[in-house]
Parts: sequence; structure tokens; C-alpha cells
Amino acid sequence: MKILCVGDIVGTPGCETVYSQLKYITSENDINFVIANGENAATGNGITAEKAEKLYECGVDVITLGNHGFTKAEAGQLMDSGFPMIRPINYPSSAPGKGYIIKKCGNKNIAVISALGRVFLNPIDSPFDAVMNCINEIKDLADIIIVDFHAEATSEKAAMAWFLDGKVTAVYGTHTHVQTADERLLPHGTAFITDIGMTGPYNSVIGIDKDISISRFVTLMNKRYKVADGNCILCGIIIETDDSTGKAVSIKRLKIF
Ligand SMILES: [Fe+2]
Ligand SMILES: [Fe+2]
Repeated sequence: MKILCVGDIVGTPGCETVYSQLKYITSENDINFVIANGENAATGNGITAEKAEKLYECGVDVITLGNHGFTKAEAGQLMDSGFPMIRPINYPSSAPGKGYIIKKCGNKNIAVISALGRVFLNPIDSPFDAVMNCINEIKDLADIIIVDFHAEATSEKAAMAWFLDGKVTAVYGTHTHVQTADERLLPHGTAFITDIGMTGPYNSVIGIDKDISISRFVTLMNKRYKVADGNCILCGIIIETDDSTGKAVSIKRLKIF
């Protein structure tokens, strides 16, 4: 089984890149299942129902969110309608949606769990407890378990990967929008990378118009953010699994200009 995970899709340029390139990438790489982070897909963060549905139509099987997932309220309604999109599992239980999903792919059940880090982010329940409780609940139902850990700190992401080594197929980081070069297999068969990067405008500050970003840092004035223009980069990873054990056998970075 080959699973493609696409990094944070930023704004309309990022969405257009996925709409136009995903079919080609999946057929070129014999991909069976696609997960994409959509927390910044809408203009001004969050995701609209229209963009989520279009990403699904073009081949994304599961959309994960993050700290910006609820900027557009319609994301909650969409998740509660049964659409394959998940928010972090350590959100308050009263939040819309769920923190995991199990989908069939061939004769295998793939579980995807989203969790949000706590370092340099707003206070939230422990992602470690929430993910482990979820794994204990679903482990007999899922052949493969993939964790999108949406977090800022590299240390927190690495700790999560080692915490789950042998219990899940892969742990990958999202949120920083910058791909790291530390992809590896841990000793008990869990694939890990600190961050898979973003899908959005290349000449930008993590997807944002660079002049606006520079101005905010230089002047400390809260000029309104705007998604950058120009050519996009598509970042992600491909995880290959041993279907008899559910363990990862390889993890490869993708960075397409
Ligand atoms: Fe993001
Ligand atoms: Fe984020």
C-alpha cells in the first residue's frame, strides 16, 4: 500500500495546484490513498465546503485540519455531515467533527488521526493521551494507522513519533509549512518526519505575501495577511506499508515545483 500525504494547502493557489497535479502524481507513484492537510485552504485560513469537496473530487481521501481548522464555521457542519475531514482529536469534545476516521482502501482499513501540539500554541488537552486513547479504541478495527501531528516544535513531534513507534504506521508533522529532511523509519516500524511542508506559493513567507510579512515584522503593525501569488510548490511524503503487518517499509519526501 502506498499512501501520499500532502502538506498544508495554502489558499486558492495551493488548492489549484492539488486540483491540477494530484491525478498525475498518484498515477505516477502508484498511490492507493491520499491524505491532505486543508487547514489553510480557504482565503484567510480554514476551509470552505466548496474547496473541501473539490479536493475530495480530485482524489483526496481524507482531509486533516489543525489550529486554523475552524476559521470558517462551515468546516464543522461539513464534518458533522459525514464528510471525510477530521479536526485534532485533543480539541474539546464539544467541538464539531471527530479527531479520527477509518476508511476502507482495497481490503484494508486505514485510520487517520489528527492531533494538535501544545508547544508555542494555544492551551489544549494532551495530544499524547488523546492519541493513545484513540489507538487503544480503534486498534482492532484498523490495519494501518497514520497520525498527522500538527505542531510547532520539532521536539514535541519527535517525542510523539517515538511514543508511538510500533503502535502506528506513520507519524508526520504539519503546521510549520517547511519540509524537514529527517524522514526515517523508527526501530519498531513507524515512519516519521518532523514536517512534510506546504502546498502553496513558493516565493512567500510560508505561503503569505512576503512584503506583507516583512512589513509586519519590521513595523509591528498588524497589516492584513494575504496569500502570495506566483508559482506553487507541492510538498508531501509517500509512505509504503507492509500490508501483512501494517508497518511502514519506506518513507520518501516529495517536493514538486
Ligand atoms: Fe498550516
Ligand atoms: Fe497550523
